[in-house]
Amino acid sequence: MNIKDIFNNMEYGKAPESPDQALAWLASHKNKMSHFIDGSWQQGSGHFASNNPATGEKLAQVAQGDEKTVNQAVKAAAKALPDWQDLSGQQRGQYLYAIARLIQKNSRLFAVLETLDNGKPIRESRDLDVPLAVRHFYHHAGWAQLLDDEMPEHEAIGVVGQVIPWNFPLLMLAWKIAPALATGNTVVIKPAEFTSLTALLFAEICQQAGLPKGVVNVVTGDGQTGQHIVTHPDIKKIAFTGSTAVGRWIRQATAGSGKKLSLELGGKSAFIVCADADLDAAVEGVVDAIWFNQGQVCCAGSRLLVQEAVAERFHKKLITRMNKLRIGDPLDKSIDMGAIIDPRQQQKIATLVQAGVDAGACLNQSDAALPKSGCFYPPTLLTDVSPSDLVVQDEIFGPVLVSMTFRTPDEAVALANNSRYGLAASIWSENINMAMHLAPLVQAGVVWINCTNQFDAAAGFGGVKESGFGREGGKEGLYEYLKLKPGKSAKKQANQANKKANSNKPAKSEPIEGMDKTPKMYIGGKQTRPDGGYSYAIHNHQGEIITHAGLGNRKDIRNAVEAAAGSKTWTGMNGYQRQQVMYFMAENLTYRQDEFAERLMQQGHSKKQANDEVNAAIECLSYYAAWCDKYDGQVHGVPMRGVAMAMHEPIGVIGIQCPDEAPLLSFIALLAPALAMGNRVVMTASEAFPLPALDFYQVLNTSDVPAGTVNIVSGQQAELSKPLAGHMNVDAIWAFGADSQVIEHESATNLKRSWTETEPRDWHNNGRGKEFLRQASQVKNIWTPYGE
Ligand code: NAI
Repeated sequence: MNIKDIFNNMEYGKAPESPDQALAWLASHKNKMSHFIDGSWQQGSGHFASNNPATGEKLAQVAQGDEKTVNQAVKAAAKALPDWQDLSGQQRGQYLYAIARLIQKNSRLFAVLETLDNGKPIRESRDLDVPLAVRHFYHHAGWAQLLDDEMPEHEAIGVVGQVIPWNFPLLMLAWKIAPALATGNTVVIKPAEFTSLTALLFAEICQQAGLPKGVVNVVTGDGQTGQHIVTHPDIKKIAFTGSTAVGRWIRQATAGSGKKLSLELGGKSAFIVCADADLDAAVEGVVDAIWFNQGQVCCAGSRLLVQEAVAERFHKKLITRMNKLRIGDPLDKSIDMGAIIDPRQQQKIATLVQAGVDAGACLNQSDAALPKSGCFYPPTLLTDVSPSDLVVQDEIFGPVLVSMTFRTPDEAVALANNSRYGLAASIWSENINMAMHLAPLVQAGVVWINCTNQFDAAAGFGGVKESGFGREGGKEGLYEYLKLKPGKSAKKQANQANKKANSNKPAKSEPIEGMDKTPKMYIGGKQTRPDGGYSYAIHNHQGEIITHAGLGNRKDIRNAVEAAAGSKTWTGMNGYQRQQVMYFMAENLTYRQDEFAERLMQQGHSKKQANDEVNAAIECLSYYAAWCDKYDGQVHGVPMRGVAMAMHEPIGVIGIQCPDEAPLLSFIALLAPALAMGNRVVMTASEAFPLPALDFYQVLNTSDVPAGTVNIVSGQQAELSKPLAGHMNVDAIWAFGADSQVIEHESATNLKRSWTETEPRDWHNNGRGKEFLRQASQVKNIWTPYGE
């Protein structure tokens, strides 16, 4: 090729990166890798091959961890824990800082090794994965230092188990290890079986940084090894990134174990292009959204929604651009797309695309030549698809974009939200008002306006719906690795009044047929009788029957959830409006103070206890009324010309199972924060002492609370917990004094957030605060760039 030819076809020349140093590093381990436990390498009993997906060649043998290996790693992490926690934040920060520096120093080695192992373009591993991993350690070095000032009520959880996927091996490791160490936890981490190598290089960096033995342990292996981590009794928290199917299994496997859990799962993120968008910029956005990392990105913008007026023009531009993408040797610096992780993943992509075509989709595929060997798949666009098609609903996890059109912004929102996932969304419009209008309406943990796939350690990342729960990055991400200190612990003993009330708890009553003057349930703004037509006896403190309450069943729960899910008025109100209603509720409770005190006395409270509890409930309502317009989000300082706004949003419908202790106060202490943050609720009243909750409808009816906002069901908790926790339209479940195993297991249906406490709480002294507001809200990070 001569210079004239080059100018004529503008073809790139080859710019290969040498694999030599990375291969030499593997050779220094004799291409047979060990686990990293208690600061040293430990040979595993069995090994499996780790291949280069771009060539199919074997890179190394990787150890397969078994139960014994995991036990050793957990033991080492547990042993290291006290000394690690005894260090000052500044000292821990220094280790994180040293790790950041050392990764930087070895950045090219990390990038090349990552590309060899994963098949991603060196351009991406070099310019994104490694620098962002470094950034996470620097950022969290700072948090380690600031923790005592910023979060004095919290402390580390203990030994943390972390299981990560293969699409961003080093980056996911950094997202998990940096906050865990900064907050004083020790770690057992398992990289994905396809991509273990950079985690092992990282282990070497930990040695070089002088990190105390056992603080970080790397166990390699497959899903079996992951299972041993997930189920290990001494691991107090599991952080997982990967498929929704495995995330669901983890939720079920850890149900009732008391382990804290954060899940970052799959996605099918919407990429919305409005008619007034800068179409050329949006085309580049799509390239970054779906063809970055071969589309193997949990938050990939894989569902394109284009406004009808510009759809044809946009598709044309997009196809032209798609055909120009260069696919090939990932070590070549001038290629755009590298290899798919493994032949099985490649097959999965091909099968799903074929299913789309069989269902009538129009296939647009780049005809760029693919390398002869290795695992490659061309960039693909499927048009003429319908919202319910498999390819529109399922995560393909490959370079495949599906495209649909919309007419109005409302239609765009409806299409965007028509997914079981809710990880991210991208909105393109030159009208910032419209973009900022749409951002809160789209159900996603992250929204990028006129940009896409932006990540930073200072801004939380994570999803809603079946994309999981919990955040990584930002202050919001730190809470995932912290618990309240014992003084503030939820498990503090109940106070005297609670104990007394509990000691009077009657034996389980037999259901009684027929309805009389039974306090009714409250659903959709109306008093309702239980569907089954049964009631159960409510006893006083002497064990005498004082009345009966409706015995709710799963149908009552369904009706209550339907009412809550269908009633959006409360959530649409602003904080100021909600505040006024909540003050009004407090006022109306004050008017009925004596009636409520009487109810409490009927069930065993002394007059003083009863009055104290009603007063505390009134105060609690006012307290959360005050918070309605004050629990603000944050603007994160991300290193781009723009901002990431971490907004607190309501979760949606919260199912709340109330405890027996302090029956009025606990009911209010759970109801009020949920309402303050704009949620609707389905509450199951205390089984033994439901009367204060059932009487509360009077306060709701007289306080302008929109129908369906608060729904109250009475009955036996064992009957009600399961349908409430398992309901697909319940977005979070709180259960106090409940069987947490059942609740958490059922919550896996739609991977709703759960908050369970089995021990009684001292509601008078420890029944309110920001912990409740955090549980009642979720963080959405909205990124907007500045400038031209
Ligand atoms: P996966 O979810 O099976 O694997 C992710 C990690 O979990 C790996 O480290 C694996 O060893 C581990 N693991 C697997 N089963 C486990 C278990 N029962 N207990 C504990 N750990 C377990 O994902 P896989 O099979 O690699 O990919 C399958 C599909 O999952 C992909 O096609 C894609 O759709 C999705 N995926 C999504 C990711 C995301 O970031 N959202 C990342 C990787 C895959």
